[in-house]
Amino acid sequence: MLGFSPNLFWERRKTVFSKLDETVLVLTSGSIRNKSRDTEIPFRPDSDFFYLTGVCEPDSVAVLRPNGSDGDLILFIPSRDLDKERWTGQRMGLEGFKEEYGAVAVYGRHQLEEYFPSLITNTDKIHFRIGSDQRVQDLIFASLKATRLYKPRGEKGLQGVLDPGCILDEMRLFKDDEELDRIRRATQITSESFCEMLKYCSPGTGEWELAAALEFGFRKRGASGTAYPTIVGSGSNSCVLHYSDNSRRMEAGDLVLVDGGAEVDLYAGDITRTFPVSGSFTPPQKAVYEVVQRAHRSAIDEVAPGAVLDSIHRVAVSQLVEGLLDLGVLEGSAEEIIDKRAYKKFFPHQTSHWLGLDVHDVGDYFVGDQSRTLQPGMVLTVEPGLYFPRLSEDVEEFCGIGIRIEDDVVVTEEGSELLGLSLPVSTGDVESLLEDQK
Ligand code: GLY
Ligand code: MN
Ligand code: MN
Repeated sequence: MLGFSPNLFWERRKTVFSKLDETVLVLTSGSIRNKSRDTEIPFRPDSDFFYLTGVCEPDSVAVLRPNGSDGDLILFIPSRDLDKERWTGQRMGLEGFKEEYGAVAVYGRHQLEEYFPSLITNTDKIHFRIGSDQRVQDLIFASLKATRLYKPRGEKGLQGVLDPGCILDEMRLFKDDEELDRIRRATQITSESFCEMLKYCSPGTGEWELAAALEFGFRKRGASGTAYPTIVGSGSNSCVLHYSDNSRRMEAGDLVLVDGGAEVDLYAGDITRTFPVSGSFTPPQKAVYEVVQRAHRSAIDEVAPGAVLDSIHRVAVSQLVEGLLDLGVLEGSAEEIIDKRAYKKFFPHQTSHWLGLDVHDVGDYFVGDQSRTLQPGMVLTVEPGLYFPRLSEDVEEFCGIGIRIEDDVVVTEEGSELLGLSLPVSTGDVESLLEDQK
């Protein structure tokens, strides 16, 4: 349960039961995957499964079934295997799961084929993520087929499958206090680790060394690890948006873009800063950096309840376009450049995404064709950037420069809360921080 109060999961299930309307919701935790032969990748439960159960076991299935005005949670969990426990540690028995997680019944995973079909007989629709678990999917598909072939007249049979996201995405978009506490810790740990990492930021150091220093900081401060593969892109690697090879040695005069996030109790932080490897920005680097900095500031200032998500992006784009015109990178009128999206060559991504259990968290960005209005409890990133990959020969002076500045923001009743330790943003402050860490 990772320290969350059991009541929290119960309350969430209550909300789900009120929306199920006679349908059943089935979630699976996911399986352990292998790194090579018999060596395993550390397991992380599926975010939806954890959100409603608090269970972190692999190969588990949760069935949420309405029952009168309330509903039941039924779990299928791998049974204990004492031989295996000698290698991988002791596990809780099925009875323990029943008590701790508030399930009305807990079966062994090996009993899935025996009991699961009876749990879905009285529903005509089921919420299940296609592709999430082959064994469960086979049972559901068999039930769909049986309805079509053999359903007795007057009885309900399973007729359709819906994605659980249609209930859960909207719930997960609004973070409660316990979730905000984890996201605050994740961003705090991330920003502290960024500062500490900088003592290794110098010419000759490998990108992988910076990544290792950052991730050591995460673990040292109690995070379980990274929320996503750390990006350390120096030189023109800074222009590769999700670069994660981290295999180049940094050189004097380079910029290095570091995008990293600690994971705390499965919740993500997501912060980016761009540093001059030698300690100070060259004039072209500084010129581009200051444009991104203005976009970052203006976009963060825009975050407030009632603001439209798209307006945050528009503010960032307008600052970036103005800057690109001043730099002589683009020509013409700002309106036309924005209309034709000519800036996309240098700013190809959006300014924000939701943040939570998943780094690119769930939740609609539009309601119908209208951009979403921000409400308290939503958490989003603000991450404008400008990138001049080597192919942009038309802007020789800036070739190889990639700059992104990213922070995480909670929408509050009064306005917004900037998360993390307010890492330096301005060129002067970044240079001083680099100097201090030497
Ligand atoms: N770290 C991935 C992103 O910023 O979206
Ligand atoms: Mn990021
Ligand atoms: Mn991000």
